[in-house]
Amino acid sequence: MRFLFRPPATDAAGMLTLPWEQPLGEWDPALLLDVPQRGISRHVVRFVASDGQVFALKEIGERLARHEYRMLTEFEEDGLPTVSVVGLCVGRPGDQEAILVTRYLEYSMSYRYLYSVRRDERSPDRLLDPLVQLLVRLHLAGVFWGDCSLSNTLFRLDAGSLSAYLVDAETAERHPELSRGQRAYDVDLTRERIAAELMDLRAGGLLPDGIDPIEVADELPRRYSALWEELTREEVFTRDEQRFRVAERLRRLNDLGFDVDEMELVTDPDGDGARLRVDLCVAEPGQNRRELFRLTGLEVQEGQARRLLNDLRSFRAWLQQRDGHPVPATTAGHLWLTEVYQPVVDAVPPALAGRLAPAEVFHEVLEHRWFLSEREGRDVGTTEATRSYVATVLPHTPEELTTPSALPRRRRIG
Ligand SMILES: Nc1ncnc2c1ncn2[C@@H]1O[C@H](COP(=O)(O)OP(=O)(O)OP(=O)(O)O)[C@@H](O)[C@H]1O
Ligand SMILES: [Mg+2]
Repeated sequence: MRFLFRPPATDAAGMLTLPWEQPLGEWDPALLLDVPQRGISRHVVRFVASDGQVFALKEIGERLARHEYRMLTEFEEDGLPTVSVVGLCVGRPGDQEAILVTRYLEYSMSYRYLYSVRRDERSPDRLLDPLVQLLVRLHLAGVFWGDCSLSNTLFRLDAGSLSAYLVDAETAERHPELSRGQRAYDVDLTRERIAAELMDLRAGGLLPDGIDPIEVADELPRRYSALWEELTREEVFTRDEQRFRVAERLRRLNDLGFDVDEMELVTDPDGDGARLRVDLCVAEPGQNRRELFRLTGLEVQEGQARRLLNDLRSFRAWLQQRDGHPVPATTAGHLWLTEVYQPVVDAVPPALAGRLAPAEVFHEVLEHRWFLSEREGRDVGTTEATRSYVATVLPHTPEELTTPSALPRRRRIG
């Protein structure tokens, strides 16, 4: 048997003691974590914890496993939203298939989980937009997925909205660029898969009445085209409007969750017009994430980072007003982390830890503070809002979500 691990995979070294020579489906359940409500899958997929980390193991033919390993490695290097691949086990005895190892995507949810447990998340609408975003991002990077579906996507809360991640790259192909026909084919495959998945949910009594699987699925190509068009269209305008229009376009693209790599402005030598073409960064948007990391060392998702930075900025303004002199951003970042953010995160009792990512808890506390302040007609402050949130809101968040830090307590994760 051989293990191929990509450094840094030191945290995966503890996994070498697992019984790789046995068929994955026959592993001792004591070694495994129970992850309920996953998507539909053809292969045997199991989850294990090792050194405080959780890994997903998939038994799959060696050729496909190597392909998926290579694809996921590339996607991660390019900053595309995918699960992170750790390694492969090949050459298992008796001609057994290979095992592909990926890192469990923390705090992720499958669509089945979103439908069956998080009742508030039922609207299929909430899933469509993140899925379309993901597909567009992949297409801009020249990736033909060939198997885009709700089952092959994982969802994560990002400051109240959902973001989507690719989890299955068996069929993915990388091209320098995709043709219109390739994109249309991928979109159509997705539409069919979603319709089938929603019908399956309906058969299981999980789809709310009044939601028509076909209608929802048909909505996908429309939203895909609208986003693609918005992102890639060339604009023509006069020289006078130039600055304003360029700034406006930038803002709009950022709002849609895309960073701009390069802008090309071609002026018309005869008239006073200009043509604007933008090259988009395909990586997950990172402006706010990078800034928050620089100021506080926190690593969170983009929407969460935007939210946290806003709070940090208003904290800094308050500091400056209180002290009567300018406070450097890094100093404010450090103070905010220890005096504002950490106390909120630490207020979550161990029994409720692991339900939501810490940054998502902070986001929810800010929302709760706003809600309480509105109701009481005064600013209730973060301390009081946190106390109330932990007592009245957090206990009602479904328990399925996971973090390895919650593992010693329970082996069931979602
Ligand atoms: N790294 C991971 N983190 C979290 N969940 C994961 C991870 N890898 C797999 N899963 C879960 O396991 C399910 C099955 O994984 P995957 O889609 O790779 O298997 P599959 O059998 O190849 O599927 P298919 O039938 O589409 O070929 C996914 O839908 C997802 O819910
Ligand atoms: Mg799959």
